[in-house]
Amino acid sequence: MHLTHLSLVDFRSYPSLDLTLGPGVTTLVGRNGQGKTNLIEAIGYVATLASHRVSADAPLVREGASHAVLRARIVRGDRAALVELEIVPGRANRARLNRAPVSRPRDVLGLLCTVLFAPEDLALVKGDPAGRRQFLDELLVARTPRMAAVLADYDRVLKQRSTLLRTAGAARRSGGKGDLRTLDVWDGYLASYGAELLAARLALVEALRPGVARAYAAVAGTQAQVGFEYRASVPPPQQGPVLPDGQVLPDGQVWPDRQVWEEAIRTELVAARPREVERGQTLVGPHRDDLLLTVDGRPARGYASHGESWSLALALRLASFELLRADDREPVLLLDDVFAELDAGRRSRLAELVAPAEQVLVTAAVEADVPAELAGTCFVVAAGEVRRVS
Ligand SMILES: Nc1ncnc2c1ncn2[C@@H]1O[C@H](COP(=O)(O)OP(=O)(O)OP(=O)(O)O)[C@@H](O)[C@H]1O
Ligand SMILES: [Mg+2]
Repeated sequence: MHLTHLSLVDFRSYPSLDLTLGPGVTTLVGRNGQGKTNLIEAIGYVATLASHRVSADAPLVREGASHAVLRARIVRGDRAALVELEIVPGRANRARLNRAPVSRPRDVLGLLCTVLFAPEDLALVKGDPAGRRQFLDELLVARTPRMAAVLADYDRVLKQRSTLLRTAGAARRSGGKGDLRTLDVWDGYLASYGAELLAARLALVEALRPGVARAYAAVAGTQAQVGFEYRASVPPPQQGPVLPDGQVLPDGQVWPDRQVWEEAIRTELVAARPREVERGQTLVGPHRDDLLLTVDGRPARGYASHGESWSLALALRLASFELLRADDREPVLLLDDVFAELDAGRRSRLAELVAPAEQVLVTAAVEADVPAELAGTCFVVAAGEVRRVS
């Protein structure tokens, strides 16, 4: 797929912008602070309904404006779709598809599929588990848009259950009993949605692993062994038919499957309840899981060098690209400022790996940082104006 038009109104630094794009490589060159990342962020937002830089919507709306509008025309094969989003801070977004309102913004997820490479990706390797969970969850939704509903359900249950635990915990601490009658019902929901999410993440990790190792070797140009393991906060279930962990089942799930995990989460919730009430938090479930990344057996977080960490972050994105392509989703690749960080060898190896994509958008402060393999249409971004120069 590829984008043919992007238009922005009051998004970040852009009062208004209309951009015509084509397949192949497009580079956006401009000095610092001119609005290159803002463009990439806007495209990423159309694909995921989230920014890769901020979690709240307020910074996305131009200072002094009340709301922002994003419009993107997406072509996939011989079909085109026009997605329009209105971002109003503090309120739910509104979305339209081919000029008709949709009931929920998330109904437009899946129409545009992107893989975004950005300096922020270093946090995937060096940062907190939350970033790695988000990486997995965004890829789950990109592959299977229906997963957005599971994630939303899980989040809602988690919030409500945690509120209940907090109120009950506070009541107990002040000498009352604390009403925990509805907690069993929430446990059931948490286990059910949680197991669906957990099983999906495990299957995704299995599917990604070979690509991550391959991409790391290709980018880094070394034979280092890269490890990529999901770490569930719930102990892996011990019972049931004995299959090797990680075995892919005929329905595409990975052993242990969703039902087994649901039981495991329920059991763990029972054991954790006194601690949960005491702390007023949900201590069990996929919101506490992590993805362990290793290079030559050592945890990347804490051990890997800067260059190794970068190569690993790039490998995660490249493997996502490969997987989405294999699913026949052909994502648009967005490379924000990634070449400046790499030495010449890594630059040209990365360029070779991304060049076959149907559409690639590359930003750089200095044109010379963009490898020759990625010569294409060039725009200059200056003071919020985007001008085609070749
Ligand atoms: N909500 C907003 N309203 C107005 N301006 C904003 C808003 N959010 C960001 N900006 C401004 O947008 C400008 C461009 O930001 P952007 O991150 O796109 O720059 P860039 O071209 O990617 O620069 P760099 O090369 O340093 O990465 C910044 O000067 C920033 O202050
Ligand atoms: Mg930038």
